[in-house]
Amino acid sequence: MELLERKIQEEGIALPGNVLKVDSFLNHQIDPELSLAMGREFARLFRDAGIDRVLTVEASGIAIGVMAAMELGVPLVFARKKKSVLMHEPVYAHEVYSFTKKETSEIIVLQKYLPAGENVLVIDDFLANGEAALGLASIVEEAGSKVAGIGIAIEKAFQRGHQRIIDKGYHLEALASIASLDDGKITFVEK
Ligand code: G4P
Ligand code: NA
Ligand code: NA
Repeated sequence: MELLERKIQEEGIALPGNVLKVDSFLNHQIDPELSLAMGREFARLFRDAGIDRVLTVEASGIAIGVMAAMELGVPLVFARKKKSVLMHEPVYAHEVYSFTKKETSEIIVLQKYLPAGENVLVIDDFLANGEAALGLASIVEEAGSKVAGIGIAIEKAFQRGHQRIIDKGYHLEALASIASLDDGKITFVEK
């Protein structure tokens, strides 16, 4: 997606350790126009799959997830990373290991917000090793629904998440694919 790639080149910072800092529009401050454009692109890419619901994980997935859900005319559900005291009802939970933070955490969704028999679109802001996206996909399947696709804003194609998702047979779409962050330079995958 041209608009996103331009924004990444203009405002993204390639940090040591293969981390792309994009908190001026995605991870801290949010660009609403760009988020809407990304939501529209996700909707265009996945509309034919007959999406019933969008699932993401807090926090940074919510802005783009809600735009995609609005365009598709379906609800957005976001997995929580901390069990709220209000969650006195049955939940789906999945352990997610963060290679970035070197720690395991849980993503949790109330079962009532993931009814069985649906086509669910999984959305997230970043794809690195794929732990978050695959954790969300596992929850969808545990709920008795189908993973209709996995939509990612920015994937780091040189990390393992991309291949892990393809190997599981999911329909993966990334709006921007990064080939390298070496030497502070952001290089996109050739199309
Ligand atoms: P994985 O889910 O693909 O395995 O990723 P990983 O555990 O490595 O990433 C943990 C967190 O860091 C996730 O956000 C993920 O989106 C984010 N992340 C991974 N690589 C990058 C990167 O190069 N740049 C940025 N900006 N983020 C990256 P999170 O902890 O869930 O945070 P948030 O959603 O609350 O913002
Ligand atoms: Na993030
Ligand atoms: Na995220």
